[in-house]
Amino acid sequence: MAEIEKKPVKIVETVLRDAHQSLLATRMTTEQMLPIVDKMDRVGYHAVECWGGATFDACLRFLKEDPWDRLRKLRAGFKNTKLQMLFRGQNILGYNHYADDVVEYFVQKSIANGIDIIRIFDCLNDLRNLQTSVKAAKKEKGHAQIALCYTLGDAYTLDYWKEIAKRIEDMGADSICIKDMAGLLTPYRAEELVRALKESTQLPIDLHTHYTSGVASMTYLKAVEAGCDIIDTAMSPLALGTSQPATEVMVETFRGTKYDTGYDQNLLAEIADYFRPIREKALETGLLNPKVLGVNIKTLQYQVPGGMLSNLVSQLKEAGAEDKYYQVLEEVPRVRKDFGEPPLVTPSSQIVGTQAVLNVLSGERYKMVTKESKKILMGEFGQTVKPFNPEVQKKVIGDEKPITCRPADLIAPELPKFEKACAQWKQQDEDVLSYALFPKVAEEFFKYREAQQTKVDGTMAKDKSYPV
Ligand code: CO
Repeated sequence: MAEIEKKPVKIVETVLRDAHQSLLATRMTTEQMLPIVDKMDRVGYHAVECWGGATFDACLRFLKEDPWDRLRKLRAGFKNTKLQMLFRGQNILGYNHYADDVVEYFVQKSIANGIDIIRIFDCLNDLRNLQTSVKAAKKEKGHAQIALCYTLGDAYTLDYWKEIAKRIEDMGADSICIKDMAGLLTPYRAEELVRALKESTQLPIDLHTHYTSGVASMTYLKAVEAGCDIIDTAMSPLALGTSQPATEVMVETFRGTKYDTGYDQNLLAEIADYFRPIREKALETGLLNPKVLGVNIKTLQYQVPGGMLSNLVSQLKEAGAEDKYYQVLEEVPRVRKDFGEPPLVTPSSQIVGTQAVLNVLSGERYKMVTKESKKILMGEFGQTVKPFNPEVQKKVIGDEKPITCRPADLIAPELPKFEKACAQWKQQDEDVLSYALFPKVAEEFFKYREAQQTKVDGTMAKDKSYPV
């Protein structure tokens, strides 16, 4: 019998980033992560996604942890596995555009502290917003992966994806990711998309999806058969629902085929045993809401990410207008169209969602507008794939002249200003970056850190170090 040609599928494990961001409100602590790092390091994962996204904000804001310290500890523990982070292009890990000097410095420090692969995306898929971070990652000898936010709409044809993939390759990216944050990509569409991308680019293709609509593991299967090189999965206790398909399930699916990962299922079982009590506890305390674990077919119907649905619910609850939920859901695609049909992902999902809520609650569309809605229509987030609705744009920005250049071209260097503002708190170079992204939250964290240190006469640092 002829040897079958082997093409093991590569796996990015997301349990330390996206999985707990999606299911546990990003509340997994470094202390919860470290004891299992050694075993995870033996699996042979292509990479472990463990930093960036919302984890940075959550560390400082809710966990009172230094995110840089977390990264260094993970780096020390993962001796053989590449570490991956999620990076929002010119927004870094925040929600606004930053100057190039801040973006470059953040990339430099991320790699210096242990990141190997930076997955970079822009909420409008405006590649100009990724130039600086891709260049910086290459300069620091990191792997620059560009992620395309997957979405549906008139503009998003196979030709659109093929053309943009080609441009990504020309930009010097090392790989390309289809980032399906809402779980909209169905199995046969995935097959078609991966085939098309493979025709237009030589770059390795990574598919990232969420289980929200229940089709994700089938989507991975069809994508891998079509030539997808890398898939993102989460260990079973924190998989499914709004998280990723389960690692063990995908490993088993491909066993004995040319895509066999060769991972040790016993080792994976031990890792799952470690995370299971974390899941159980989260269910008990209510941190993990069983609602997000089921299949939510509404995401396919309304084409909005699961996280955005729950945000809308809480915004309406606060306004005492929960009965307007379906009206708002119908308003979301209208606002999205007015705003040039962007993908719905942080921060565009919040901007579109909030505006849809205002449009419904105020009883007149665009009678009330947020600062961010105005910014989008001023071109300050970048270029959308379709033009804005001219009437809406006129109503919101009046006679102001929208910009058409790369937004960061208009932002003067910002680092010196941030250095000065946080000088009194600074204990490490990286502090200025925490401060640049989240000034108030970082300042509170710095105060907390100082208080902890004085409380224990400077022995705190020793107490807090882990044997990794
Ligand atoms: Co995700």
